[in-house]
Amino acid sequence: MAHKGFPEGFYWGAATAANQCEGAWDVDGKSPSIADCLVKGGVNEARRITLDIDEGKYLYPSHQATDFYHHYKEDIRLLADMGLKMFRMSINCTRIFPTGDEDEPNEAGLAFYENVFRELKKYGIEPLVTLCHNDMPLAFTREFNGFKDRRTIDYFVRFAEVVFMRYKEYVRYWLPFNEINCTMRPTGNWHHAGILNPGTTTFRNQVDDPQARFQALHHLFVASARMVKLGRSICPDFHFGSMIAYGTVYPGTCNPEDVLLAQREDKIKNHFCGDVLVFGKYPYYAKQYFDDLGIEIEMTDEDLKDLREGTVDFFTFSYYNSNCLGSTTTGEIVHGNYVDGVKNPYLEYTPWGWGIDPIGLRYTLNNVYDRYQLPIIITENGLGTVDEPIRNEDGSVTVEDDYRINYLSQHIAQMKRAIVEDGVDLIGYTAWSAIDMISLSTGEYKKRYGFIFVDVDDEGNGSMKRYPKKSFGWYKHVIETNGEEL
Ligand code: BG6
Repeated sequence: MAHKGFPEGFYWGAATAANQCEGAWDVDGKSPSIADCLVKGGVNEARRITLDIDEGKYLYPSHQATDFYHHYKEDIRLLADMGLKMFRMSINCTRIFPTGDEDEPNEAGLAFYENVFRELKKYGIEPLVTLCHNDMPLAFTREFNGFKDRRTIDYFVRFAEVVFMRYKEYVRYWLPFNEINCTMRPTGNWHHAGILNPGTTTFRNQVDDPQARFQALHHLFVASARMVKLGRSICPDFHFGSMIAYGTVYPGTCNPEDVLLAQREDKIKNHFCGDVLVFGKYPYYAKQYFDDLGIEIEMTDEDLKDLREGTVDFFTFSYYNSNCLGSTTTGEIVHGNYVDGVKNPYLEYTPWGWGIDPIGLRYTLNNVYDRYQLPIIITENGLGTVDEPIRNEDGSVTVEDDYRINYLSQHIAQMKRAIVEDGVDLIGYTAWSAIDMISLSTGEYKKRYGFIFVDVDDEGNGSMKRYPKKSFGWYKHVIETNGEEL
């Protein structure tokens, strides 16, 4: 049946990731994760990766982040005030099995997330849980280069089993790995596969070994499928989704060469991983792609069986910007979320160079739904920019973030059109981000996305007090009117 607007029960939500908000990086038994050795960078300064953590010398933003670990009750109460229906968060595995060698999981880590889930339940907020949002024990990289090694599959399956058993009364919606398709690019080596090749010093320019990277991606697929199978056997009520970083790509010109190039980029960078997760097998174009790169993936019959049996039942993706690509295209190169492209003259850009393209979201929703025909949740979308806090006489802070309201309302309007005019089965939206956090790509505090301002500056100094921004009241109204009034 065609909808007139957002369907009833639409999951209006917002998202976070453990290593960007929790802080408390070495508290209650947690071990260092691969996120904890990333130094703060900036728009023109790539984040350094230091295997040895030297806090005297560098600022590692994840160590403190915005201290959700000690503020979760207050933060969740505020999100409940905003009327949130769904909260996307991740569990940091280094709180549960800190090194992977433990016989028993770390009770303090398990108790923390149980408290978070209890708090969400108190307010009737549905959790959507990412099992791995760019975290794994740093020891894995040191010892065997993370997902390059099969042992990492077993670690994550064991971690998932403990988590499923413990939280099955609280959580129904799960995402095995955040933005798994970032491993299609060299930048995915570190964050997504835990691989550090000799010579890599920064997150942006990593030394790449495609053979190792794609073997790691295969292990990520197998781990994902085994987690899905296991989860379903533990609780038939569980739902599992993909999580794809959608780098929407347009041809730079109408030159057929450019059109072909953009189509190929879309297939390889955006669809390849979704195809494996949804259809349970490598796509037909994978063989040629691997042959061209001279890659041979080691895979067992059991791996292939698990891929077939552990497919996802809903589709999620992040969307921030689009990019233009072309063999004959020239112009200023701009960066987006993990992708570079030629500047699009029809778009405006954020101070970080990300092209603002609400219609691109409708295009992407159609593209994804045409291919997979599964219910969709947009698990990340938002505007990262500088907020200027206005300090009031009573010491409180106000942020007039009309630019964020503008960004979000334009994107939500296109979501509505995709539902109403195009028939896309969109069931939820978890905007990035629920509350201010540190940026993943630059590690800055000042690149803010949240509905709630956290009083902390770019050097990590401040009261850490929380203040609703203007967008908070605006989003509350959007939720109350089920997206009718933007
Ligand atoms: C997504 C990540 O790719 O982009 C998030 O899943 C990240 O973790 C978000 O924060 C926005 O990127 P950034 O670099 O501006 O924080």
